[in-house]
Parts: sequence; C-alpha cells; structure tokens
Amino acid sequence: MSTTPAGDVDLAVIGGSGFTALLDDVEVVEVTTPWGAPSGPIQVADVEGRAVAFLPRHGEGHRFPAHRVPFRANLWALKELGVTRILGPCASGSLYPEVHPGDLVVVDQAIDQTWGREQTFFDGPTVNHVSLADPYCPELRSTLLAAATDGPLPVHDGGTVVVIQGPRFATRAESRLYREQGASAINMTQMPEAALARELGLCYAAATLITDYDTGVEDDPGVEPVTQSEVFAFFESNLPKLREVLIAALAAVPAERTCGCADAPGGLVPDLPA
Ligand code: ADE
Repeated sequence: MSTTPAGDVDLAVIGGSGFTALLDDVEVVEVTTPWGAPSGPIQVADVEGRAVAFLPRHGEGHRFPAHRVPFRANLWALKELGVTRILGPCASGSLYPEVHPGDLVVVDQAIDQTWGREQTFFDGPTVNHVSLADPYCPELRSTLLAAATDGPLPVHDGGTVVVIQGPRFATRAESRLYREQGASAINMTQMPEAALARELGLCYAAATLITDYDTGVEDDPGVEPVTQSEVFAFFESNLPKLREVLIAALAAVPAERTCGCADAPGGLVPDLPA
C-alpha cells in the first residue's frame, strides 16, 4: 500500500530509456499493487504547486527490458496515488525520411505488434472491451503538443507509432512493412501502456524522441542499423530538452478534465487477481 494518501497526486510522467529522474526534491513513495510491484519506487515532487509523480518505466539501471516492464502494476500504482493524467515519453526510431533523430513526435495513433504481455486489467470474469480507436487523450495530447511546439526540439503534430515486441530491433523487411503501413515511429513500450491507462480511465499522451533511423528510411541496404548504445546515448544527450518540454506541459495541464477518458471503462472495475 502507498504511504502517500490516495488522491494527493494528479499528474504523472512515466520515463523511458535512461530517464530515471525528472524532478528535484522528491519524496520517494513505495507502492505495492494487486498486480505486483511497479518498475520501482515512485518519485513525487512539486511542479508549479501541483504534485507530480515520476516513475522510471524500465526501473533502476534499466533492469526491465520492454517486454518485461510491469505495465499493469505501473498504471495501477499511479492510479492508486490519485493520478488521472499521464505523460509517457519514450524513444523511437524513425521510419520516415522527414522524421529525424532529435525530433519529437507527439503521436496520435499506434499499431500494436507486441505479444505475450499482460495487456489488460479485464481478464475475466468481468469483461470490458474499451474503445482504443483514439489511443491518446485529445486534451492531454494538445497540452503536450503546445508545450512541445514552444520548446527546444523540432516537433511533429501526430504520427503513428508501431510498437514492436523487442527486445531485438526490427529486420529491414519489417521496418519497410511498418513504413508502408503508415507508421512514422517504431518503439517497444507504448503498448500496452496506453491501452491499460484507458482501461483505468486515465488520460495518456506521449511525445516520442526520435533517436535513430531504425534500419534506414530510404530502403538503402547500406544504412547501418540502429544499436542499443546509439539509442541510449542519443536519448541521454537530449534528455534536458525533453525534460524542459515535459515540465512546461505539466504546468499547463488544465485543472479539470473535459475529455471522455474517465468514462471509457463504462463504470466497470477490473476483478483483482486471486
Ligand atoms: N526505440 C528507439 N529506437 C528504436 C527502434 N529503432 N526500434 C524499436 N524501438 C526503438
């Protein structure tokens, strides 16, 4: 159970690769959930008078690879703290020539190519097919987009992220296929994170920092494919700029929600695991 009273914290950031701290002067909160432990302790701090939670998605020392991230516990823990809106920044490869390393894509669609992950809270006997037609909260996304547009990185308004299972990167043929299917960014963690947020009635929006060209964006077989060290190093060097965007976005999140995300579960609550 949380040591912080539920309802105290309204906003959260789930940080991606190498993103282990967002805020200064944090209170560290240990939360356990019916779905197990989250990726790590949750850091809570003040941003412009509002309590904000930060959770490193991959845990301390990046100990959870994408396919092992405890997504259900992460989302549940944040909700238990009172969080209603989550920003989920992450790293992606580019699949389009117009999208470059160093750009931010404020995504508006996703293609889920993951498998074998704990991808729902509604595992029965309560059945609930929530709509994920629009996987990102329109209200939170526009707040994030406005902050990003005023920020230090080039920004793309909208884009489809294809979420692969990992931990390996894509083959050249897979990369080409996803590009032909309309994905502009390729990543390993946006799903089931966005879907689980929706099942809990939480708003979720993401800006993905482009770190590489995956296997190449012009079908050039000579392009050096992405490496893990390239992604980590590039992400780390751009972290101060990404942090600036996120802090500005958090400060601008409206006090009240006017989107429909809270109603998405239709009043149904998941059955807890036995
Ligand atoms: N994260 C950052 N770059 C990536 C890529 N090329 N493929 C999958 N996930 C990524």
